[in-house]
Amino acid sequence: HLLIIDFGSQVTQLIARRLREANIYCEIHPYQNVTEASIRAFAPKAVILSGGPASVLDENSPRAPQALFEMGLPILGVCYGQQVMMEQLGGRVEAGHHREFGRAFVSPNERNLDLTEGWYATGREQVWMSHGDRVTALAPGFDVYGTSPNAPFAITADPSRHFYAVQFHPEVHHTPNGAQLYRNFCRIAGFTGDWTMSAYKDQAIEAIRAQVGDAKVICGLSGGVDSSVAAVLIHEAIGDQLTCVFVDTGMMRMGEAEEVVTLFRDHYNIPLIHADEADLFIDALEGESDPETKRKTIGRLFIEVFEKHAKSVGGAKFLAQGTLYPDVIESVSFSGGPSVTIKSHHNVGGLPERMDMKLVEPLRELFKDEVRALGRELGLPESFVGRHPFPGPGLAIRCPGGITREKLDILRKADAVYLDQIRKHGLYDEIWQAFAVLLPVRTVGVMGDGRTYEYVCALRAVTSVDGMTADFYPFSSEFLGETAGRIINEVNGINRVVYDYTSKPPGTIEWE
Ligand code: XMP
Repeated sequence: HLLIIDFGSQVTQLIARRLREANIYCEIHPYQNVTEASIRAFAPKAVILSGGPASVLDENSPRAPQALFEMGLPILGVCYGQQVMMEQLGGRVEAGHHREFGRAFVSPNERNLDLTEGWYATGREQVWMSHGDRVTALAPGFDVYGTSPNAPFAITADPSRHFYAVQFHPEVHHTPNGAQLYRNFCRIAGFTGDWTMSAYKDQAIEAIRAQVGDAKVICGLSGGVDSSVAAVLIHEAIGDQLTCVFVDTGMMRMGEAEEVVTLFRDHYNIPLIHADEADLFIDALEGESDPETKRKTIGRLFIEVFEKHAKSVGGAKFLAQGTLYPDVIESVSFSGGPSVTIKSHHNVGGLPERMDMKLVEPLRELFKDEVRALGRELGLPESFVGRHPFPGPGLAIRCPGGITREKLDILRKADAVYLDQIRKHGLYDEIWQAFAVLLPVRTVGVMGDGRTYEYVCALRAVTSVDGMTADFYPFSSEFLGETAGRIINEVNGINRVVYDYTSKPPGTIEWE
């Protein structure tokens, strides 16, 4: 495996993506946590030093442990990582007289370099620069292998030691052939690109066994991909030491509770507590129309119910969560500390402290698409693995204003028709998330010979990569017309359907 030392660049995660795409296993460790001993313990085959916002000229700016450079490992420094290498290996960095941001073109010189094999098909390569400081004197042993008009040291290396240092960011989209450079580096370091999800699964199972021993573990299931994959993986590792708790808030989608219970209890034989708490949640929410109060009430009740059932398991020492890599990295890069913040919207956030449990987070190293691949590896049905995300507060935040049982029923039916339409038209996998919203507004219509006065249903569908930004999905008007017709015909209580053409920002994906 490969170690990426993170100096806090916004794009460090993309380095990991590029390597994983080449089937190379890597981990990002924040520089604060990296010591000579931690490197030896991790025993990487190669190390990448990431970019970062600091200047090596500033007092106390981050460095790599000096011993790293004596370990005989191939090292690639990127942007700030290049400056760290120059500074620590005896070169010189100065504040840049020409700051360089954005697109630049690197040309090779007469020396060949294994790192850039396959580059320069058109004579020069587009790269993406983002730096103020720059190298002005190379460290002993280094030579220049590529330059751009503003960066005479764009590509530098000491090939005899397999030390490489580049001033630009090969991991970003705007360095179109950057992935090649990472692949070359890994090949030089002796990686064969044979990391697979199946190998990862075995490794993860071993790690879970080592962590929990013979203690009991509980896991909150939501029916979403992350918690489902985590539960099945942990069950493979420790069998019936695991108990899952599925808190059924009564605000799930059509058929969802049955699906979760059947899959886990009957198919996987995982001990599962189905906490049917619809009355508790709906009674507490009825008459409440403020979105934040609704969310907080749901969060509080969730913890209460979970706590109650967790006690009945008989002293679980561990709580399993489907925390993903982006959650972990975000909290490292932006809070500056190694502590992991559990996103406040996580369903069982707040529990570990209250219950004095340790966390088991077997998906901490994976990206969403990798979690899906792991789910397939574990034999989870495609209907679970490929599911659209569903928020913890459920349909409550898709009924703006106050909820009632009647409204939830209407919404559930409309949502099922809408998703059926999307599946029938083969659009489900193109869309990040699609759902119906029941507006707290009634309008006048005419059906048959009679006047109607019923609710308006809004349809939402977005494309997104990570849910942070999103675009509305451009359905054809035929699709929308057909879907509106079906909803009005098949769902009592709705006589009008509208489509939401708002992107995020300025809208959010959910309506509350
Ligand atoms: P927004 O509405 O903020 O949502 O654009 C972004 C993504 O997060 C989901 N979401 C939640 N997921 N608990 C969750 O597990 C929550 O409280 C929650 N709120 C929003 C939302 O469905 C979308 O995918």
